[in-house]
Amino acid sequence: MEFTLDVSSHAFLSGDIRISSLSYINSTNSYVRIYKLFMQNKPNFGNDKMSINLDVTYNYKNLPRWRSQKTKPIQTQFKANKAKNKPNLTQFKAKTNPNKPNIETAPKLFLAFTFPCPGYNLPMQIWTIQKLLNWTTEYLTGKGIESPRLSAELLLSHTVGLTRIELYTKFDRPVPPEQLDRLRDLVKRAAQNEPIAYLVGRTEFYSLQINVTPDCMVPRPETELLVERAIEFLRERRTRTQYVCDLCTGSGCIAVAIAENFSDARIIATDICDAALAVAAGNIKKHQLSDRINLLCGDLFDPVISGLDVNEFDLIVSNPPYVSTAEYEKLDMNVKDYEPKKALFAGVNGLDVYSRIIEKAGQFLKPYGALMLEIGYAQGPAVKELLEQTGDFREIKIEKDFHNNDRIVTAKKLST
Ligand SMILES: C[S@@+](CC[C@H](N)C(=O)[O-])C[C@H]1O[C@@H](n2cnc3c(N)ncnc32)[C@H](O)[C@@H]1O
Repeated sequence: MEFTLDVSSHAFLSGDIRISSLSYINSTNSYVRIYKLFMQNKPNFGNDKMSINLDVTYNYKNLPRWRSQKTKPIQTQFKANKAKNKPNLTQFKAKTNPNKPNIETAPKLFLAFTFPCPGYNLPMQIWTIQKLLNWTTEYLTGKGIESPRLSAELLLSHTVGLTRIELYTKFDRPVPPEQLDRLRDLVKRAAQNEPIAYLVGRTEFYSLQINVTPDCMVPRPETELLVERAIEFLRERRTRTQYVCDLCTGSGCIAVAIAENFSDARIIATDICDAALAVAAGNIKKHQLSDRINLLCGDLFDPVISGLDVNEFDLIVSNPPYVSTAEYEKLDMNVKDYEPKKALFAGVNGLDVYSRIIEKAGQFLKPYGALMLEIGYAQGPAVKELLEQTGDFREIKIEKDFHNNDRIVTAKKLST
């Protein structure tokens, strides 16, 4: 008799499977079959149900015909039995199979042939890029993670060292065990809402790769509108070298994107957080912009020494913290639990940093220079009013983003 077990499982996160089976006749003379599934690794998700389909095929070519007619594939659901977990060995136990032929000779025959091979080691599941991509997407979807396919692609391309496009051209490539272990850890953290950008250490902003760490905010696509307007403004000006100040630079994404797209820009970027500035420094170096972007640490304009660093700026841009107390409480978990509070929170009504920037911006701008600020969707009128109160600005405009929310305010400095 040939005895074949074919296990197709979704047990990637719980490690690969070794299986052994045992059959016997119980006291009521019924036919009982037990499968023991041993995980090679400790399961990451002890509470998760694992669904394993066992297709058991018996080739009864040497047995009487009546027996072969009674066999059929078995589909069984296993659940991790947490109580029996041992450090590196988890036991899964199938329910007793009530489907028993009460004919004495059948189980005896079965016993006779089964016991010689009680342990049955299956070959390890081979995880290809395609299988992992599909599995991870499905898993993240089940956990309610936003953009699960994109997230799966980013995690996988980071782990295996391929671009997202390359994943699709190397679909059948098997992923080695060390990389599987790394991916397993990342997927688990992503399922707990840790931002993908922090997990892979970078994100795309204005078609540029920007490195990020939990010390700085993850650049958002909405901020690209601010960069777009800044570049347009600089290109329209007739003067050659243009001086730009990027307040609250964080990862340096705005400064880097402007410098990359406008070669005559000289930029001073400030942030109050040393650790964020270290990330910005890395990005500036990576994009070879160290000769055109200077980083200064301190509170808004404080570290900028007028006359020493630069006399006046053609353009001041900023995406400052602007979350109010009420909004902060309602932030998504992946923002509130992971991104730095000082990058987000700006007092009771979220306007604290705007009022301080706007109060001083006029002193640091050339006549006809511009101030461009990213704003929260409900802050347009309040920020516009702050600008009007200074009497320093004209052409104060609020612009919407691609979600149709107010997103930036631009203003030009008066001639005097
Ligand atoms: C909303 S994040 C923006 C980061 C980056 N510009 C972007 O668009 O992704 C705000 C940044 O402002 C910095 N920050 C907060 N208060 C500041 C202050 N008073 N002076 C300078 N930087 C400040 C934070 O450290 C954080 O990096």
